[in-house]
Amino acid sequence: MWYKEGVLNGIDIPPFWKVLRPDHLRGLVMVIGAPDSGKSTFCRYLYSQLLVHQRPCAYLDGDPGQSFLGPPTTLSLAIGDLKQPTQVWRRFVASISPRGNMLSMLTAVSRLMRKGFRQNAEVIVYDTDGLVDPLQGGIYYKFALIELLAPQAICFLSLENELQPLLNYFQRQNRHTVYHFYASSAVQPRSPDVRRQYRTAQFAAYFSSARQIEIDWREMPIWPAPRFFPNQLLALTDREGYCLSLAILLDHHVEAKRLQLLTPLSGIESIAGIHLSRLALDPQTFQTHLFAADTVSKED
Ligand SMILES: Nc1ncnc2c1ncn2[C@@H]1O[C@H](COP(=O)(O)OP(=O)(O)OP(=O)(O)O)[C@@H](O)[C@H]1O
Ligand SMILES: [Mg+2]
Repeated sequence: MWYKEGVLNGIDIPPFWKVLRPDHLRGLVMVIGAPDSGKSTFCRYLYSQLLVHQRPCAYLDGDPGQSFLGPPTTLSLAIGDLKQPTQVWRRFVASISPRGNMLSMLTAVSRLMRKGFRQNAEVIVYDTDGLVDPLQGGIYYKFALIELLAPQAICFLSLENELQPLLNYFQRQNRHTVYHFYASSAVQPRSPDVRRQYRTAQFAAYFSSARQIEIDWREMPIWPAPRFFPNQLLALTDREGYCLSLAILLDHHVEAKRLQLLTPLSGIESIAGIHLSRLALDPQTFQTHLFAADTVSKED
């Protein structure tokens, strides 16, 4: 670790980041900002400070498109060092964006937060997705997330005045401690292409140790319904609804009710359900595309 006047391991640490005292924080700390506002960098800094102060804490990676604790389409809650977490719980949100998928995001985050507190985390750092654009419903979605989760602290990380409606509202409430600061000038914006490449690399790494398995789905609940298409991305879930592993549907046999899957999961004993998405993930290129509803095969 090297430190030089506000720069730690190459990360610019603006003075106002230090206003959040790791020894004083408790509960959910929610970090909100537009894409490329430096949310994840700030969250990782804050989390590292909590670890230095030996606070029981957890990290909630809440961005299904640019996730770093799990593959895209999932949200993860990790405990311990983020490079080698002692434990991780994952929820599948079946999409790489919260757009059109906000209910699933709300429930996934809420479940993970409750899991974190049940695991005795005193502080949970929640690194949110960057959807705040009012034209895409982003600001209303963030409002709903704050109302639902009731964070003890909210950090607004602004580029300009895009967060002003939330700030105006929540600064006057006495339910949360509100921090507001501007993005560091060291933030490096990423183009849609770079973001896509990142996702592709994340999927490729995730499936690098994958193997083919075949499962009989007669006894297996399939959410929302057994409607399949080639290369469909799906999640194999446990009895609590957490994601054990992602899988790609290679083939399905209608009569025998068998699915042929590509997955890195080693044992199939703990699979309690299958959660389908409308995304196809190419097992060679690891590119995703949304599958049109009318081409999905119906089997119910
Ligand atoms: N304080 C900083 N010092 C140096 N580099 C930074 C800093 N903040 C962000 N960056 C760099 O800018 C880029 C984007 O930052 P980051 O991923 O934290 O933003 P984000 O708001 O989480 O983006 P996203 O919308 O994808 O979630 C990264 O390459 C990161 O290393
Ligand atoms: Mg981020």
